[in-house]
Amino acid sequence: MKEKVEQIISQLQEDIKNVKTTQDVVDIKAKYIGKSGLITDLMKNMKDYSPEERKEIGQIVNVAKNEATELIGTKEEEINKAILNEKLEKEAIDISLPATEIATGAPSILEKVIEDFEDVFMSMGYDVVDGPELEEDRYNFELLGLPKGHPARDAQDTFYVKGDELLLRSHTSPVQARVMTSKNGDEPVRIICPGKAYRRDDDDATHSHQFTQIEGLIVDKDIKLSDLKGTVTVICKRLFGEDTVTRFRPSYYQFTEPSVEMDISCFNCKGKGCNICKNTGWITIGGAGVVHYDVLKGCGYDPNKWSGFAFGFGAERCAMLKYGINDIRTFYNVDLRESKVFDRKEEQ
Ligand code: DAH
Repeated sequence: MKEKVEQIISQLQEDIKNVKTTQDVVDIKAKYIGKSGLITDLMKNMKDYSPEERKEIGQIVNVAKNEATELIGTKEEEINKAILNEKLEKEAIDISLPATEIATGAPSILEKVIEDFEDVFMSMGYDVVDGPELEEDRYNFELLGLPKGHPARDAQDTFYVKGDELLLRSHTSPVQARVMTSKNGDEPVRIICPGKAYRRDDDDATHSHQFTQIEGLIVDKDIKLSDLKGTVTVICKRLFGEDTVTRFRPSYYQFTEPSVEMDISCFNCKGKGCNICKNTGWITIGGAGVVHYDVLKGCGYDPNKWSGFAFGFGAERCAMLKYGINDIRTFYNVDLRESKVFDRKEEQ
């Protein structure tokens, strides 16, 4: 029996040299240690032997079986490793190859400018509030000194939605009236409200039927025009550069008295005159003024105790000037290539 086993093992050692594939492994397993394999077969006629012989044969066959299993197992491992290596080599990714560029968007420049405004105002203690774009005539006009039939309403080319009571707000100033009327006239206010406004303008390079304003309002004790000037000057320096100079020209709005137009020195030519500032050295960025006596009163504040200032910046205008964009429609054009251009300008 021992001889027979030795012969089978040496036959296996020969055979195993030719094992190259996983199928060969399956075959060789079946041939030697499978259900009717050569080694398993040795146990078949055990009943013909005496108990002592059976014990001895059993041990010999078991040792042989273990040896065969180990030999085949080692070979199997070798083959699996080779297969894996081949696969890894074939499927290797060359990370040094230049990748194809993925077209991504970039943050909207308009959003960026609005966020910059918000950051600066928040750092000065202002709250950022929201208001409805679908607005009531009362907030958009009446509480702001523009009663029905007032000729200045025409200038606002309003989109009326339902009769003459519901409209798309023509400016963000109604938020002032909303905030003040919500306070019972006994609390200071310090807010900005960036948001969309709508007018029946024909769209061209500088006009859009939808545009963005950044409204601001402060109501407190002893607020004067000089506070407005100081605040706007600090804001503009922070947003447009420390060397920015501000200028306030007399103007007229129904909801402020006195009213001003806010200009900043042209950041392109530093006031010398160029095509951005149309050779004036100045750029207009919004309107402002001291909150009108009647507006305070109409919104529940005692104008003899409280005073305030308000302003409205044109967000697209600020963004256009800051980033050298010459067509307002660019902001509403969904073209990744254009936002990419803005992105690059940001990086410079
Ligand atoms: N609402 C004005 C407009 O749309 C801008 C404005 C002017 C807002 C003066 C104000 C202000 O708050 O005080 O043209």
